[in-house]
Amino acid sequence: MQVDGGDDDAWSAVAGEWADRWGAFADPVRAVLLDATRTGPGTRLLDVGCGSGELLALALARGASASGADPAPGMVHLARTRAHEADVRVAEAAALPWPDASADVTTAVNALELTGDPAGVLPELVRVTAPGGLVAVANWAEAARNDLDAVEAAVARALDDEPGPDGELRLPGGLERLLAAAGLTVEASGLVEAPWDASDDDALVRGVLLGEDDATQAELAPTVVGAAAGFRTAGGGYRLRNAFRYAVARTPG
Ligand SMILES: C[S@@+](CC[C@H](N)C(=O)[O-])C[C@H]1O[C@@H](n2cnc3c(N)ncnc32)[C@H](O)[C@@H]1O
Repeated sequence: MQVDGGDDDAWSAVAGEWADRWGAFADPVRAVLLDATRTGPGTRLLDVGCGSGELLALALARGASASGADPAPGMVHLARTRAHEADVRVAEAAALPWPDASADVTTAVNALELTGDPAGVLPELVRVTAPGGLVAVANWAEAARNDLDAVEAAVARALDDEPGPDGELRLPGGLERLLAAAGLTVEASGLVEAPWDASDDDALVRGVLLGEDDATQAELAPTVVGAAAGFRTAGGGYRLRNAFRYAVARTPG
């Protein structure tokens, strides 16, 4: 995905297509986080960087009350539509507009790394979480575990660019170290498989190059299709095998 992580308007601009092409993709890790935090009736859950609201909807379906924050107004609109009982606000992770201790469980999926300063914003997630509550975070695992990274590396090379190194949070132990450094006690962590399916070449190219204009997508389409040749399915689509890392930690009581 070629969305500029630090640009709220960029996420608003692609919100609808993001939801269609990628919205359900993180469901396996969402289920793991909701199970690990025992989210259910009576749980007050806050999802930071909630995107188009899929995790909020799953939390509501389990009987929890749900709040969500995202700085992209386009995402907030979709999240309110998908999870209408949730309290969804336009907000950055660094400045959450809720009082101290207002959530039992605070989650962030594929969002903390986009703030540019995960260690700097984590205390804000802890602040809004009740003492003895849970903070649950997840993001892409290291590149070697993700077919999408192989395709994106081919795109980078076609643009005379070098794929960047894995960020610390993608590596084994990275999320655990982040949470422990903030004074939390890690209770669970691990890897979750999260395959992504594209029905045909067009869906593959539009999904991988989400955020690029039509001309750039057309120019890079042969690179994307070529790089994904090994991931073709018998039906003419593609299945990219990817993985997330997650960690769940308790705030001081
Ligand atoms: C890759 S999407 C993930 C959305 C959702 N959490 C999911 O798992 O589908 C990243 C989201 O993080 C949001 N985001 C970007 N910068 C952020 C920040 N500083 N604080 C909170 N959310 C941010 C974006 O607007 C976008 O909705």
